[in-house]
Amino acid sequence: MRIVSGIQTTGNLHLGNYLGAIKQWVAMQNDVAATGGDCLFFLADLHSLTVAIPPAERARTTIEMAATLLAAGIDPDKAILFNQARVPAHAELCWILQGTARMGWLGRMTQWKDKAGKNREGASVGLFTYPVLQAADVLVYNATHVPVGEDQKQHLELARDIATKFNTDFDTELFTLPEPFVSKAAPRIMSLRDGAAKMSKSDPSDMTRINLTDDDDAIAQKFRKARTDPAPLPDTMDALADRPEARNLVTIFAALADRTPQSVVTEYAGQGFGTFKPALADLAIARLGPIRDRLTRLLDNPDAVTAHLVRGAERADALAAPMLQAAQHATGL
Ligand code: ADP
Ligand code: NA
Repeated sequence: MRIVSGIQTTGNLHLGNYLGAIKQWVAMQNDVAATGGDCLFFLADLHSLTVAIPPAERARTTIEMAATLLAAGIDPDKAILFNQARVPAHAELCWILQGTARMGWLGRMTQWKDKAGKNREGASVGLFTYPVLQAADVLVYNATHVPVGEDQKQHLELARDIATKFNTDFDTELFTLPEPFVSKAAPRIMSLRDGAAKMSKSDPSDMTRINLTDDDDAIAQKFRKARTDPAPLPDTMDALADRPEARNLVTIFAALADRTPQSVVTEYAGQGFGTFKPALADLAIARLGPIRDRLTRLLDNPDAVTAHLVRGAERADALAAPMLQAAQHATGL
């Protein structure tokens, strides 16, 4: 099994990013390493060129994201962690595959239609060909599996169509058709002040989210001030269906403790938030404190983070270079 997954680079990561994404990658890395497979995680800095980001911010968020992943448990000995721009085979294979991909296929991509909107003439060419780069990202490693959310299923189908057409056109069996990798459902973490809104870095109020850089006092204070209702916790999750704030705190507790939400309500049934919130804050501090401390040390030493990315890129390049060469050979380049 070889898994390849790209990660958008963003700064200011929060508890929702950790429980909904990063913690899942760490689990995936450990599962795949245990079976002798390979896990490649890349920071999608080439993809980020489709949005206008100041260069200094692009560089900073790449380092911040890499540091956060390392702090949260991505182990550079188990997974290959690198940024896309440092492995030129991604862009080179993308160009080769642009001879294979059809305008009509790309024009049908929902994400292109959504993002370009009515302004197709003003959209960048890269926004249109984005899914071809995504295809190259996985085909260049002959990935067997790609973790995909709902919104990315269409792009994985496209990667399979491109691989099939390339193999047919050039009478080769070069590309493996990647399968979707289904991991256990990630929890969706809501704002601490509004059970109907997702916890997000774009929320103007800092009290709505736990940042991965928050100190212990800030974590405790944010949970203390989290919105709840006066009723005690019931003994089933079903009974929390119309109490979104309470349900969110139970969901966070369960995800941090690697337990089911039902086992958490069973333990706290009949107790109020005066008891539950401090227990949740203690748990969050115990789980997030060490990650924050590692993150702080890494951000103080960005050269060490860069060194990890350089080594990851070398390992990725060693896998990608023969594939690129074979694709060049197949096409007569
Ligand atoms: P934000 O919404 O803060 O801008 P992003 O859109 O950059 O976060 O998301 C990065 C990753 O984190 C994605 O995989 C996304 O699904 C996950 N994620 C973001 N917010 C949450 C949340 N509140 N709960 C669970 N997962 C989340
Ligand atoms: Na977002």
